[in-house]
Amino acid sequence: MYKKLIESSLKKAAKVDKVELEIPANPAYGDFSTNIGLKKGNPKEIKKRLTKDKSLSQIVSKIEIKEGFINFWLSKEALINNLDKILKQKDNYGKDEIGKGKRVVIDYSSPNIAKHFSIGHLRSTIIGQAVYNLYTALGFDTVGDNHLGDWGTQFGMILSAIEEKRINPDSLTLNDLEEIYVAYSKKAKENPALKEKAKDWFKRLENKDKKARQIWEIVNKISLAEYQKIYDLLDIKIDYAYGESFYEDEMVKVISLARSKKLIKKSQGALIIDLGKDLPPAMLVKSDGTTTYLTRDLAAIDFRLKKWNPSLIIYEVGSEQKLHFRQVFKAAELLGWAKKTNFVHIAHGLVLIGGKKMSTRSGTTIKLEEILEKAIEKAAELLNSAKVVKNLNPKEKEAIIKDVGIGAVKYFDLMHHPESEINFDWNSIFNLKGNSGPYLQYTYARTQSIINKSQISNFKFQTNSNNQNTKPQNRLNSKNLELDNCLDFGAWNLEFNREELSLLRSLSQYQDILVNAAKNYSPNILCSYLFDLAQKYNTFYSKHRVLDISNKSSVISQFRLAITAATGTVLKNGFLLLGINAPEKM
Ligand code: ARG
Repeated sequence: MYKKLIESSLKKAAKVDKVELEIPANPAYGDFSTNIGLKKGNPKEIKKRLTKDKSLSQIVSKIEIKEGFINFWLSKEALINNLDKILKQKDNYGKDEIGKGKRVVIDYSSPNIAKHFSIGHLRSTIIGQAVYNLYTALGFDTVGDNHLGDWGTQFGMILSAIEEKRINPDSLTLNDLEEIYVAYSKKAKENPALKEKAKDWFKRLENKDKKARQIWEIVNKISLAEYQKIYDLLDIKIDYAYGESFYEDEMVKVISLARSKKLIKKSQGALIIDLGKDLPPAMLVKSDGTTTYLTRDLAAIDFRLKKWNPSLIIYEVGSEQKLHFRQVFKAAELLGWAKKTNFVHIAHGLVLIGGKKMSTRSGTTIKLEEILEKAIEKAAELLNSAKVVKNLNPKEKEAIIKDVGIGAVKYFDLMHHPESEINFDWNSIFNLKGNSGPYLQYTYARTQSIINKSQISNFKFQTNSNNQNTKPQNRLNSKNLELDNCLDFGAWNLEFNREELSLLRSLSQYQDILVNAAKNYSPNILCSYLFDLAQKYNTFYSKHRVLDISNKSSVISQFRLAITAATGTVLKNGFLLLGINAPEKM
């Protein structure tokens, strides 16, 4: 919030059109920092102009030049005003409108029908949803689309196997389907005739052959029912699911557009688009007349541009598809689609289990459901002994256990940079002393328990600058507590201790962190921030008495409760953007 204000003063002082403040990792360099003085060679001059800026002096109490950088410290007034804002805005604190009028399509989750939901798709689902939530919070008009893998040669294999063995498709489970696929693709490697048969079946599917369609529909139904279970467990709802099959007829349009732009070439019976010397050509139609994954991705862009007119399309898909998306984006550019729309691929890294990679084809996948169930079991182990949870009714208890188990897995995924590999390790996922979902949730529950004990749920400040010098008023009495449940507050007269100050400074950065995380497609930025905030809160809590029951009306106590409430609000708002629930008790 303050970042933008300081930036606009800085622009004037440095006489530049654009300037971006950084949030220094080390608080000794202030709340915000810029190297613009280094770039322009006149930090002192800029500082001089800044100190004359009246509007800036309201929010900044100190400006310092260090190693050429200009560093800014927020004023006490700014920090208190922000605290006030958090307590007033509650769930809405952190929301912004920088995205107003802009639409973003996010393509995520996108599992492949007839196979189990893989752990790679879990990453896509979790990261994609967090990115979706971040953009939504910043005022963008967001559209989520699940690009289901429900088309393609792999269906040829399944259809061929089902037909050959005369299996009744209605009797199949997703397990069976996956086994059939794995077995067939293994055999097809040694037996080219089987490969041909599979191709033939996919062709029949594309040519709207009745039998092929019938089986395909059943296979879809079986798979989608299984995925729904996982989405329910993860609390995921995606706006649309135009799978690949949806683009059957759209593909024709793309091919004729490419033709009209003279981009299509015939090569050994296939239709391709040449993408220049840095990339292999894009194959639109294979020599056997069938279409490709890439053709469907181009058709999807065409469709999305017409339907939603987005300024950005984000794909959350594994890093093994980097080349594919470079090809897609290059083809989109040649087709004239990149003028008004940007394309981004968030290429998430592999998930290793015990240091090993998994793959469906070789049958070494660990089933996602098993992982999620295990996470819930671990959460139960953790919580069953907790006193606060013990006394709850079974339903409440179950809900908390689920929130902690699923939250732990989500947080572990999100705390890593999307592009880095992650090594699934239960000890880190449930590490109560370190950077983990349960640690953060526990900190949130602590803030709520303190607020509950104080019996004050609604804080009200009197913090306009007029009353800066008024004496703290202790107008809180038992009657007030019952009546409007509010606090009057004289924090202006307080000297903040180190822990309070550091919490207030962190709290004021929340919105800037959201912008950073969204701009960089990196929910991990938000995770690090929340972890840092939780640590700061726990340090504050261990060093200072927050709730002084005997003297609830003291200004110090009110102030510390207000900080506690604000920390709770920011933690919770942050969790919700990450798709993590925050139990009130733990
Ligand atoms: N179903 C694909 C896979 O699992 C991912 C689809 C990603 N989205 C896209 N537009 N290509 O490999």
